[in-house]
Amino acid sequence: MTMVKHGNFKTCAQSGFCARNRAYADLATSQASSWNPPYSLAPESIVFKNGQLEGTILKRVGVGGEMVRLPLVVTFLESGTARVTIDEEKRQKGDIELRHGSKARKERYNEAASWAIVGGLEVSVTAAVNKQTEKGATRVLYGPSNKFEAVIRHHPFSMEFNRDGQTQVMFGDRGLLNMEHWRPKIEKKEVEGEEKADDTKATEDEGTWWEESFGGNTDSKPRGPESVALDISFPGYEHVFGIPEHATSLSLKETRGGSGNYEEPYRLYNADVFEYEVNSPMTLYGSIPFMQAHRKDSTVGVFWLNGAETWIDVVKSRSSPNPLALGVEAAVTTQTHWISESGQLDVFVFLGPSPMDVSKAYGELTGYTQLPQHFAIAYHQCRWNYVSVEDVKDVDRKFDKHKIPYDIIWLDIEYTDGKKYFTWDPLTFGDPLSMQKQLTKNERKLVAIIDPHIKNEGGYRVVDELKSKDLAVKNKEGNIFEGWCWPGSSYWVDCFNPAAREWWKSLFRYDNWKGATSNMFIWNDMNEPSVFNGPETTMPKDNLHHGNWEHRDVHNIYGLTYHNATHHALIERKKGEVQRPFVLTRAFFAGSQRVGAMWTGDNEAKWEHLAQAFPMILANGIAGYPFAGADVGGFFGNPEKDLLTRWYQAGAFYPFFRGHAHIDTRRREPYLMGEPYTSIVTQALRLRYQLLPAWYTAFHEASVMGAPILRPHYYEFPGDERGFALDDQFFVGSTGLLAKPVVTEGADKVDIYIPDEENYYDYFDYTKYSGAGTKSIRAPLEKIPLLMRGGHIIPRRDRPRRSSGLMKWDPFTLVIVLNKAGNAEGTLYLDDGESFDYQAGAFIHRRFVFSQTSSSLVSENLAEAAGAKTAAYLKKMKKVRVEKIIIIGVGGEWVGRRVASIDEEGKQRKAKVAYHRSAGGKTAWAVIRDPGVAIGNSWKIELA
Ligand code: GLC
Repeated sequence: MTMVKHGNFKTCAQSGFCARNRAYADLATSQASSWNPPYSLAPESIVFKNGQLEGTILKRVGVGGEMVRLPLVVTFLESGTARVTIDEEKRQKGDIELRHGSKARKERYNEAASWAIVGGLEVSVTAAVNKQTEKGATRVLYGPSNKFEAVIRHHPFSMEFNRDGQTQVMFGDRGLLNMEHWRPKIEKKEVEGEEKADDTKATEDEGTWWEESFGGNTDSKPRGPESVALDISFPGYEHVFGIPEHATSLSLKETRGGSGNYEEPYRLYNADVFEYEVNSPMTLYGSIPFMQAHRKDSTVGVFWLNGAETWIDVVKSRSSPNPLALGVEAAVTTQTHWISESGQLDVFVFLGPSPMDVSKAYGELTGYTQLPQHFAIAYHQCRWNYVSVEDVKDVDRKFDKHKIPYDIIWLDIEYTDGKKYFTWDPLTFGDPLSMQKQLTKNERKLVAIIDPHIKNEGGYRVVDELKSKDLAVKNKEGNIFEGWCWPGSSYWVDCFNPAAREWWKSLFRYDNWKGATSNMFIWNDMNEPSVFNGPETTMPKDNLHHGNWEHRDVHNIYGLTYHNATHHALIERKKGEVQRPFVLTRAFFAGSQRVGAMWTGDNEAKWEHLAQAFPMILANGIAGYPFAGADVGGFFGNPEKDLLTRWYQAGAFYPFFRGHAHIDTRRREPYLMGEPYTSIVTQALRLRYQLLPAWYTAFHEASVMGAPILRPHYYEFPGDERGFALDDQFFVGSTGLLAKPVVTEGADKVDIYIPDEENYYDYFDYTKYSGAGTKSIRAPLEKIPLLMRGGHIIPRRDRPRRSSGLMKWDPFTLVIVLNKAGNAEGTLYLDDGESFDYQAGAFIHRRFVFSQTSSSLVSENLAEAAGAKTAAYLKKMKKVRVEKIIIIGVGGEWVGRRVASIDEEGKQRKAKVAYHRSAGGKTAWAVIRDPGVAIGNSWKIELA
């Protein structure tokens, strides 16, 4: 039996700042209305200018004691997003003392934005103070047509964000704002004298202010306590989503106990959690501190921009909410409490109103998903490890022999010479070029792993350079930090340092890394960072990074800096070579979506891990990082054949689709499974390949508007309350494909929920399902429950090939799924799938519209204006045509239809139409064979 070692990871009670802030919350709650929060915004300090409100919050410390000055800035952005930052004047000015002679920076960390934010910061020119401002509050109108309003209350300091005359988001309504200010350590004589009266005394347990030990490691905390916390409530909102990465349900559970709830807050502290468990708020490998709240027809969001260890409590109150909240009737209010160990308070508020609006606004700030190379969305074959060049070639040949498609084969750490990255094991991988040559024949690729720990071994060029150029992470004394990972004693590259990033690039150049070619891409692992002998398997928090920021401040960002450095290194491998990089990462932060894919780490070959993957991938998608997947088959352990089969069927719906396995597991390539399993898995893989045009179009939507690729129900049906918590079925992009892969043992049917009155059809046999509600679908092992919603047109490529690269010039099939009115619409995005030429217009973007009234199918151009490379690309694609049009759900008028008239750029011709009548629950359908139209042209097909 495998199980996570809970003792290796902190609970909130074992993490000083979390415990202190939870205790503070308990104190506030127990005092209820007599709770007097010590934070006030000094009215005379408030200035509103150019879309920004500035002021000073004063924190009262002790009776008649010191007032701590906390500068506040509220920025109203052009996009309609509001940003609230609070800093601490004393630390800002460096007017503090550090203990232990530490060289650490004195400020609260203020560079998280430089990693996470890439745009969307234009300040609103129309935001204005609302003249109807009452005493004790400042009101600012902002957002589209100034329809949003922020209310800034002075004492105690709190904020409300209103839309449509209703409060949507509240800051500090429970009085839990807490900025632990800097103070000198006063060495007290034990038990002597009287303690100073202090109204916050009950929370002031100094035990964890100055030093903290866990699992034999002591954190020296040279800056003392510095945590930052805030309560954020969503009045009237029953569901909150996001804040990946946790192995939990999509709709987040409460965290303060009670039946079915968690006892611990959701934790964000990137960590290598060995044998993680499902249904848990424990931290995992990545962190995106972005949350959406949803109620009927309204979505809002908050982004807590902080790179330090963070905990989030979630509770739902069923009583009537805060009387200050405008227009909200007694309903469920979700109350959250965000607690970070250090840094500024920096929060963005999104007022929607749709989930897509929130995604788009969040993506404007943190960037959209990089449009991947086309191969990267096909199937990846990995294991720890393919052991030699011969082994790789053999696996490659066997896939072909069994006619199973795959695009990429992966090399785990054993390909290196003694875990020294950028080297090849001379005995087993002595001839890496011959292996890549064989793969290239079928347009296949190689991915090799490169981790951030650099082996500490004399004579290893990479470590020698890392040391001589001084580019590694330092310990608290300012010397190179040494720890243990796969190679044994290692150092860690510090990609916060621009010089380290430049150097990192040099390592990937083909003249430096012999044996690498342009068909080889990269896997970044262990970048939490994983340090086997470190506290909680990571770095000590008092380690130092570039600029002398403590590791504590930047921990959750480290993985992004490393992933980002690799991404940029791949762009510059060789002068003149321009192709999109592909880099997979395990650790991530807000913004990682810009630089590659992620996977959910070391899961297990168990049904509950198969079931857990979809909620995790959905959560990632709504947090702006949809290029996500889980190890197909489960990393640890040997899956039974039916589990592995079901896992492939599910994996065919992961945006990132990779089979992977631990070194101690048995081989499990699909051709080894035996019949009927091999055939069933081959069918699942072919389904993925067939639908690649639809997947690529969905990736394009993610890359331009932040749309999730797997869409939870509330995205598509924001008004349908029964769908809000669904996380075991989802839509694929905007295709209308509704999937519910089987994730439970022994199931031979599934209940699928249909949200509306539209017609839905089984993808494979066109069985019709109509009427909202739950339908039972037969799902024997060979069957993937997959429906097509009426009203959509789905682009496919139906010819089975060995790899997606070989499908480049293949013709298309369009599947027209008629809605009740007999209409349908869909889009297709297509480009060369490799270069950046699409940025110069080298792409095809079509809208297909089928109209019942005119009995016609039209292909319209969606590309706005032609770019420098448009014409050349269209010319290249001239011969790529539509070979088949399938029309599903056709009515009686189709019986006599035999011919379709085609008009393509002024040329006319005819094509045959075949009608298939309905039978046994299956709908009637028609096929237009070989209409011959080019996929990139405008055309019209009319049915007589
Ligand atoms: C980590 C990764 C896993 C990989 C292994 C060896 O456990 O999560 O995917 O196979 O390291 O590199």
